[in-house]
Amino acid sequence: MTSHTSRHPLRIAPSNLAQLGPDVERVLAAGADMIHFDVMDNCFVPNLSFGVPVLAALRKHGIQAPMDVHLMVAQPERLIEEFAEAGANAITIHYESTPHVDRCLQRIRDLGCQSGLALNISTPLAVLEHLHDKLDMVLIMTINPGFGGQSFLPLAYPRIQAARALLDRLAPGIRIQVDGGVKRSNIAAVVAAGADTIVAGTEIFGSDDYQQTIAQLRAHAGQAQQGMTA
Ligand code: DX5
Ligand code: ZN
Repeated sequence: MTSHTSRHPLRIAPSNLAQLGPDVERVLAAGADMIHFDVMDNCFVPNLSFGVPVLAALRKHGIQAPMDVHLMVAQPERLIEEFAEAGANAITIHYESTPHVDRCLQRIRDLGCQSGLALNISTPLAVLEHLHDKLDMVLIMTINPGFGGQSFLPLAYPRIQAARALLDRLAPGIRIQVDGGVKRSNIAAVVAAGADTIVAGTEIFGSDDYQQTIAQLRAHAGQAQQGMTA
């Protein structure tokens, strides 16, 4: 083979996705209960993340933990089946993202996944009155979806409380998840308001010691839960 000198210096570009598996393993070993998988389409939200192949790759890598897929996409009905097949355990769609919310939730359950419904900060909680029989989890957004690292919107506190009160009346088994700007400094208030499933992106992945951060989040949340039962 003749050797050839390129005018272009060689560049090696490892895909950052290659590290996703090990980092997910690291955060699970540090005490996470599940992985929250944010899917953004640059249409429903002004940002783009990743899709089905990445979830499939994590499963192939050997990740067995529950995968909680948060679909921030227009027309979620086109992705539900593929995500279920790729190994999602729970799939959450946004109320604002489709005219076919009821059908989507039913489809998620039919595929053997837990169903979740996310509500943006200005979406009336009353929609839950018509959907609770198809729901395992309600996601009360605590930021405007699309970007990690935003500040928690205080208006979310009374919404979490009101959602918990409404669900206690309609279907007490439905969980309440919160997503956006949750930190060690506010997790106690969030849990005291009624949340039981906590998404934390920047707070965990931005810290040096995942294990310590998760333990501290748990400790603060635990204090709030004790206060509730006292
Ligand atoms: C935002 C996503 C969130 C977010 C959480 O649209 O749904 O899951 O990335 O990140 P933090 O915890 O940084 O707000
Ligand atoms: Zn999310």
